[in-house]
Amino acid sequence: MRAELPRFLADAPPERLAEGLREHGAVIVEGVLAPDLLARFNAEIDPILEQVSPKRAYLNPVIDFFYGDRVRQITGVAARSRVFGEEILCHPFYAAVCDAILGPSCATYQLNVAQVMDRGPGAEQQLLHRDEDVWVHLPRPHPEVQLASVIALVDFTAEIGATVVAPKSHHWERGRHPEPAELACAEMPAGSAVVYLGSTIHGGGPNTTADRWRRGMHMSFVVGWLRTEDNNYLSTPPDVARMLPRRSQELLGYVAHDAIAAGGGYLGTVDLLDPIELLAQGKL
Ligand SMILES: [Fe+2]
Repeated sequence: MRAELPRFLADAPPERLAEGLREHGAVIVEGVLAPDLLARFNAEIDPILEQVSPKRAYLNPVIDFFYGDRVRQITGVAARSRVFGEEILCHPFYAAVCDAILGPSCATYQLNVAQVMDRGPGAEQQLLHRDEDVWVHLPRPHPEVQLASVIALVDFTAEIGATVVAPKSHHWERGRHPEPAELACAEMPAGSAVVYLGSTIHGGGPNTTADRWRRGMHMSFVVGWLRTEDNNYLSTPPDVARMLPRRSQELLGYVAHDAIAAGGGYLGTVDLLDPIELLAQGKL
């Protein structure tokens, strides 16, 4: 792995981060989660992970193969972690980057999925893929519809299975596969994130350690007019969402996608009203 990704600090101007993303398809950003926030989030998910087995069923054998049996997963994180729901989901870093990358293609963007992936010793190199391929029916070319990231919740090293990325692969023709020399290893300290476009090829690296777990969280956002991978309304139902900041509610899809100003219409209404207001009024 000889390729490199540009590195930024989280307080870099969002437009510079966006430029890096548009040019390289992925960037490493240090300090996305401040040490105190990281520590509180890890403390909250420690007991949850203890209850999770890496040997679990997924919805079909293809997904069984994709994740393997060495990964402890937590999904629906907004409903399981207050720190996530109140501070990480609506983190201003993500707002700035999503505004730049997704803003031009939608009225509002939303959380696609947040998923803690604790990849254990022996976890193999994940199949390299583009996250946006879940929306296979979307014609190409198309504007960027997804902003994705993997947040390092522990130090990410090559041996522990840091994310592997093919820089600039968002510009490649669809059938092109990366050569080993075209891959970069997203080594970074805990609290950093590798941020990438939905069209950039990447995958979890192999965990070759004997006894260390690579705790990371995939968090991605998508334009508000595409269906999300995690069914956020069911994973974080109204009784839970009601307790979260309004901005987090919006990102979970509780706000209508209002494209009237762009000559479009509304998506996601309830009784022809905006659910975010119904939630605020106690009517959901
Ligand atoms: Fe991925």
